[in-house]
Amino acid sequence: MGKNSKFLLWFFMVVLAFQCPEKGVQGLGINWGTRSTHPLPPNIVVKLLKDNGFDKVKLFEAEPGALKTLGRTGIQVMVGIPNDLLAPLASSVTNAVNWVQQNVSNYISRYGTNISYVAVGNEPFLKTYDNKFVSTTFPALQNIQAALIKAGIAKQVKVTIPLNADVYQSDSGLPSGGNFRVDILDLMTNIIKFLRDNNGVLTINIYPFLSLYADPNFPKEYAYFDNKASPLQDGPISYTNVYDANFDTLISALEKNGFGSMPVIIGEVGWPTDGDPNANAENAQRFNEGLVSRIIQGQGTPKRPTPTDVYIFSLIDEDNKSVAPGNFERHWGMFNYDGTLKYQLNFGGGKSLVPAKGVRYLARQWCIMSPQASISDPNLADGISYACQFADCTSLGYGSSCGNLDAQRNASYAFNMYFQTMNQSKDSCNFSGLAAISTTDPSQGSCHFEIMIDLGKQGRASPSGSPSSEAMRMKNVVAAALTVMAALVLLCGVF
Ligand SMILES: *[C@@H]1O[C@H](CO)[C@@H](O)[C@H](O)[C@H]1NC(C)=O
Ligand SMILES: *[C@@H]1O[C@H](CO)[C@@H](O)[C@H](O)[C@H]1NC(C)=O
Ligand SMILES: *[C@@H]1O[C@H](CO)[C@@H](O)[C@H](O)[C@H]1NC(C)=O
Ligand SMILES: *[C@@H]1O[C@H](CO)[C@@H](O)[C@H](O)[C@H]1NC(C)=O
Ligand SMILES: *[C@@H]1O[C@H](CO)[C@@H](O)[C@H](O)[C@H]1NC(C)=O
Ligand SMILES: *[C@@H]1O[C@H](CO)[C@@H](O)[C@H](O)[C@H]1NC(C)=O
Repeated sequence: MGKNSKFLLWFFMVVLAFQCPEKGVQGLGINWGTRSTHPLPPNIVVKLLKDNGFDKVKLFEAEPGALKTLGRTGIQVMVGIPNDLLAPLASSVTNAVNWVQQNVSNYISRYGTNISYVAVGNEPFLKTYDNKFVSTTFPALQNIQAALIKAGIAKQVKVTIPLNADVYQSDSGLPSGGNFRVDILDLMTNIIKFLRDNNGVLTINIYPFLSLYADPNFPKEYAYFDNKASPLQDGPISYTNVYDANFDTLISALEKNGFGSMPVIIGEVGWPTDGDPNANAENAQRFNEGLVSRIIQGQGTPKRPTPTDVYIFSLIDEDNKSVAPGNFERHWGMFNYDGTLKYQLNFGGGKSLVPAKGVRYLARQWCIMSPQASISDPNLADGISYACQFADCTSLGYGSSCGNLDAQRNASYAFNMYFQTMNQSKDSCNFSGLAAISTTDPSQGSCHFEIMIDLGKQGRASPSGSPSSEAMRMKNVVAAALTVMAALVLLCGVF
């Protein structure tokens, strides 16, 4: 590197070090799940995160592609440990040491990834798991903490356990009556004491959508943040949304057990857009608009007015997630699976959502039920159920975006999802001769007929792969320095 470019790089770093006064969005985090048949490539996702100002991201496992690409981006990362690893990590410190070495230290030192949390397990005490992880979670947490200390990174990397809000409850139905579930009260107390003593945090997932989904009599307005619900009165406090009430139930539980100042962050909160009558873009926009506005304003809850980090669930849709919780489970993304917009959101200061850039698609063609085929063909039902066994048909359900299709289009939807999931391979659009390829988009109303992204092409298009001369590097450094200066002027109004 030449003398001039060195000087410019130095200048660039000085400019970078000049932090603008804190007035941007605080703690805007998001969950990045990758259970997709066609996951968006990490370089496109990381650009999507940056373009939208997400400065914190939560991963459900130590995905190498994601962790490498997040290196030197300034984005803070929470890395998750899946529940099925809890038993081996609980059984030996050596396992934990290896896990931390390969999945944390490695990325910090080699790629400059800013890993700031390790999330041990994912909602391990969920009632539906039937105590499966109750005995392994705490020892795994202790071993991971020991491993972080041994690796010399315990100061920068903190431990936590993301818990479902069902670890606490209120017998009185009011937030002030909150306490931990009786069956795990001692365990929770021990875990929280350990987290507190090791500078860890408590992470809670709160889902107003699930309250609405689980109870047909749930007051709808109470799920949102616009103060339109008739308030729940708890002593001097009026609650107008279930999120505040739920969070404060936890704060009461903490206070009762002597942990009133324990830091709590929100690991997951969001609203799905399909797969249920209440899951649509309009409701998701309404909920997330309210949520983001609270985050921007640094608003807390009545019992804990200081703002906390919030990780929205989630960034993009995942068409290969289990639908055990419901059909909506594959549609939590603020963006579609390919990074396109579902709805717009106001991010304050005139900023709004920006879609993913540089996404490559398969050919513009769809698989439909052949015009010559009859809806009374005896093979049709089998064809549809075969397609839906391997591809995502959750949009066809009652109250979903494609729930009103006639029988012919319904079959076309299923055939197309299978065809796209199979990368449009020719023999995947046959179905005993009932299907045919069409170049006319069959989408209708709210029902979108997908075209999948081209993973082969994405892989080849590496933006960092081009050869660069000294002159090119110079140009890049100058351009970067100018961009940073322009950004600082715009963002902070300095200079
Ligand atoms: C989809 O999920 C199933 C079950 O979890 C898994 O076996 C399969 O490999 C996944 N498929 C893709 C393409 O990720
Ligand atoms: C993490 O580290 C372990 C070694 O303990 C390794 O087997 C595993 O594949 C790594 N990756 C993930 C995603 O856990
Ligand atoms: C990592 O993120 C934390 C929290 O935002 C920040 O304090 C720290 O400076 C970051 N570290 C690096 C190396 O960027
Ligand atoms: C549409 O396909 C689904 C399969 O996902 C099936 O259950 C449903 O009965 C079909 N509806 C119509 C109108 O054919
Ligand atoms: C689709 O193509 C990608 C990239 O070539 C490949 O990894 C994936 O396995 C293919 N999916 C199927 C179902 O063939
Ligand atoms: C499509 O299915 C029909 C009937 O099962 C079969 O005769 C034909 O060979 C298939 N075509 C292709 C391209 O697989």
